[in-house]
Amino acid sequence: MSEPFQPGRDYAVALDRGDPLGRFRDEFHVPKRDNGEEEIYFVGNSLGLLPRRTASYVQEELEKWKRLAVKAHFDGENPWLPYHELLAEPMARLVGASPTEVVTMNSLTVNLHLMMTSFYRPTRERHRILLEDHAFPSDDYAVESQAALHGFDPAEALVRMRPRDGKHTIDTEDVARLLDRDGESIALVLLPGVQYYTGQAFDMEAITQLAHAKGCVVGFDLAHAAGNLVLRLHDWNVDFAVWCTYKYLNSGPGSVGGCFVHERHGLQRDLPRLAGWWGHDKESRFRMEPGFRPIPGAEGWQLSNPPILSLAAIRASLDVFMDAGGMEPLREKSLRLTAYLEWLLHGEIGDAVEILTPGDPRQRGCQLSFRVKSDVSGRTVLEKLEASGVTCDWREPDVIRVAPVPLYNRYEEVHRFVEILRGAL
Ligand SMILES: Cc1ncc(COP(=O)(O)O)c(C=O)c1O
Repeated sequence: MSEPFQPGRDYAVALDRGDPLGRFRDEFHVPKRDNGEEEIYFVGNSLGLLPRRTASYVQEELEKWKRLAVKAHFDGENPWLPYHELLAEPMARLVGASPTEVVTMNSLTVNLHLMMTSFYRPTRERHRILLEDHAFPSDDYAVESQAALHGFDPAEALVRMRPRDGKHTIDTEDVARLLDRDGESIALVLLPGVQYYTGQAFDMEAITQLAHAKGCVVGFDLAHAAGNLVLRLHDWNVDFAVWCTYKYLNSGPGSVGGCFVHERHGLQRDLPRLAGWWGHDKESRFRMEPGFRPIPGAEGWQLSNPPILSLAAIRASLDVFMDAGGMEPLREKSLRLTAYLEWLLHGEIGDAVEILTPGDPRQRGCQLSFRVKSDVSGRTVLEKLEASGVTCDWREPDVIRVAPVPLYNRYEEVHRFVEILRGAL
């Protein structure tokens, strides 16, 4: 994006003043430093901030527990039995799906296993799994264990893609070439929507098409994409996807995850799966009879009755997203906010940092990842940033990640961050 930005703090303040989403910062609790100033919180990619309204949503459920106890499953406003259904519509909007294609349940890695149980159906000829070499470790372990469960040697079954020599990120062309060569032996392609380390956004639509053309199933880990990018999972024809809600979806530490199953599969009741009573046909669930009959759609993969307090926090957060108009306006601001950060880094910091995240805004979310290239070590820079009130994070071996989040971060914070970084260097 060749945005004509200008230097100086006043310009940043003017951008904030003209920001139609600026008021949403007041919807959040921003942590404060010992001196009472608000932190520059750039780790919404790790744990999103607490929305102010969450306390009342959770309190409402505590009150129901207090007043109605077990009867709250059926009585009062928003009974617990169908409570998760309240989340389906807004969650579906955020990921570009129909409400029956999404469900909020478990956590990301659990959902990944549930999805692979149904969608990784290897044969001797086609049993390999394509993932990236630097996949988030939980995905790596999950995939290895699935291959081993099916009796395959993970060392042979896992195809780990690396960026080309001299590059930090994987091109769609590289995926295409690999699928062209090995696609017939690959059962599952599992890639991130946004890569946690580099911040690269994959072209999910193109990859899905390429993989389907070779007969592979395609799943995405959207931990860093949900609430960050505009997603169209249904239209892109993605087979399944999983995500968490504690990062960009601001729903609290360890909060319940999200899961997408394309309706092509969700409506097939005979798909093999790990079953539990919460996925069973709602009409007959409480007859307590043997004989599992799945609910059509993603809900049919539920196992247990869900933690209502956590769902209440997710509901509060999704309501904030809906009030902000969904992902489109947020992404529009995000593109500008991150482009401004990149522009300032290039102009004010120059070669003292190397940005790993793609320069093409279509290939990234809000996060920029960089390495320090100066006499001061990256670790020291991070410590200095923290001492000056910036909260960002470090990923081994040497990367600092910063994620200005459009719902609550300001242009002025981006400006101040770069000033502090320049001082630290
Ligand atoms: C990209 C990615 N995948 C998977 C996970 C694991 O999530 P969970 O602990 O909810 O299973 C995380 C957690 O941060 C993540 O960032």
